[in-house]
Amino acid sequence: MRENEPSLRPIGVFDSGTGGLTVVRALRDLLPHEDIFYIGDTARLPYGGKSKSTIERYSIEISGLLLAESSKMIVVACNTSSSLAVSKLQELLKVPVVGVIAPGARAAVKETRNGHVGVIGTRSTIQSEAYERAIQALNPDVRVTSQACPLLVPLVEEAWLDEEVTREVLHRYLDPVVGAGIDTLVLGCTHYPLLAPLIEEVAGPGIRLVDSAKNCAVAVKQTLMEWSLDNVKETPGKLNVALTDSSNSFLATAKQVLRLDIDSLETRIVQGVTLLETAL
Ligand code: DGL
Repeated sequence: MRENEPSLRPIGVFDSGTGGLTVVRALRDLLPHEDIFYIGDTARLPYGGKSKSTIERYSIEISGLLLAESSKMIVVACNTSSSLAVSKLQELLKVPVVGVIAPGARAAVKETRNGHVGVIGTRSTIQSEAYERAIQALNPDVRVTSQACPLLVPLVEEAWLDEEVTREVLHRYLDPVVGAGIDTLVLGCTHYPLLAPLIEEVAGPGIRLVDSAKNCAVAVKQTLMEWSLDNVKETPGKLNVALTDSSNSFLATAKQVLRLDIDSLETRIVQGVTLLETAL
């Protein structure tokens, strides 16, 4: 096989910060031989309250950096970017682009027994109604109750994963959603899988959690096979991480909680739109 064989190139993954490493964890588990190049846009985090045009611009710029690393596909490991920018990226790029919304919606529709799904996410994700649209396109009879949870990302970034204050905040957000009668809850933000044990406790035993990271990994595997881009080598894949700011205190937590081995950690400066001469 030639060195520049497309299937040997890395999967490019991005998020607004290091929360998207939850998607990397899921990719590692499902596709252990794939190389991954991850970019966290820590210089411009959070994305969660920003407008569609800004999120689209940021997502195009970060995808450009990933394509400069010869990425064979782009995984949008950020619910906010997935809600607001995936269709733009799919329109512009020649490589496959997979986000977290469609896989999460598919899993929620499969999981619900009573046809009532809850979705939690950042303000921008919830305001975009992307999950509602994706769920109702699959099954118009499924009801969706959504809740923006803007305080959860800072709590996770502080690594307050099992604190009383986090439990209280979760009750404030989740009690009305659970009270509305959902039986399934989509964790519609990259940071939330780290809170899954506490969310499970607060939501109560009748609620099934849908982790968009795990479902995204399944979609990535399928897409690689459809495009004949799956890497058939036997050696463990490498994980290279680049951040757009040199400091990020959450990286240590993410590494520790997710048990990820990072082969290299670099800084990349975003210098505007550099892509569109896409490879492959
Ligand atoms: N990565 C974002 C998401 O999944 C959460 C953090 C942010 O607001 O940037 O929506």
